[in-house]
Amino acid sequence: MAEILPRTIFLERQRSDTWWIEPVLVLLGLGAFIVYATWAAFQGDHYYTVSYLSPFYSPLIYVKSGVAGSAPLWHSLLGEWPSWWPSYLPASPAFLILMFPGLFRFTCYYYRGAYYKAFAATPPGCAVGAVPQKNYKGETFLLIFQNLHRYALYVAIIYLFILTADAVASFIYEGTLGFGVGTLVLLLNPVFLGLYTLGCHSLRHLVGGRKDCFSCAGSGPINGVYRKVSWMNRHHKLFAWVSLIWVGLSDAYVRLVSMGIITDWNTWGI
Ligand code: FES
Repeated sequence: MAEILPRTIFLERQRSDTWWIEPVLVLLGLGAFIVYATWAAFQGDHYYTVSYLSPFYSPLIYVKSGVAGSAPLWHSLLGEWPSWWPSYLPASPAFLILMFPGLFRFTCYYYRGAYYKAFAATPPGCAVGAVPQKNYKGETFLLIFQNLHRYALYVAIIYLFILTADAVASFIYEGTLGFGVGTLVLLLNPVFLGLYTLGCHSLRHLVGGRKDCFSCAGSGPINGVYRKVSWMNRHHKLFAWVSLIWVGLSDAYVRLVSMGIITDWNTWGI
């Protein structure tokens, strides 16, 4: 018969360290990012300037012409903004693509641990009393949804190629090769995202851990890949934050240059 665990009292603990600092920082950091990303997605403008495309809007499925700071029509995969788009929603290309990286982050094993603690306090920290639950429903609803992570990983890997292509394309403005601060910003973006994505627990399982037996994993190239993925996995939290902050900064940089609030230093002299 299953043992019934005693109910905890919220915030009851035996630890005396500053355990609360991390969940508070996660609450503020993740909260700020969600607010900014949602705001930026709703704008639908100023996502393109010089030859820089904001990663929040890439890949561009459709483009609405004539919008300030929008990309040229040739940049979109399917052309002009569709007439079937509901009029109550802003015509923002970000709406068509942000759900995929959003799903990847939301279901990430690291972020799950972080936002369960910071946003739901279930529990707020290790060995700290959780918000009392009426009854535990087991592995249902949200916990089943979280299993989508392994599939979101495949899409996230495709995004790495797309964002790398954007970074390469940012070196060419009107047929002339050059570079600017924006080029560097967009180049670092897939690097940081790659360090985060390729350290994913699901990927680590795929490239070696799936055997559920370290000594059975064998030697050779698979083991080498497994070791590299494991190194990135050990720093997963760090890369999760660096990549999150950088992707937000990349959008902000493109937006501010497009709006004329800051000037991009570049070899094209524009
Ligand atoms: S576990 Fe974090 S990205 Fe997969």
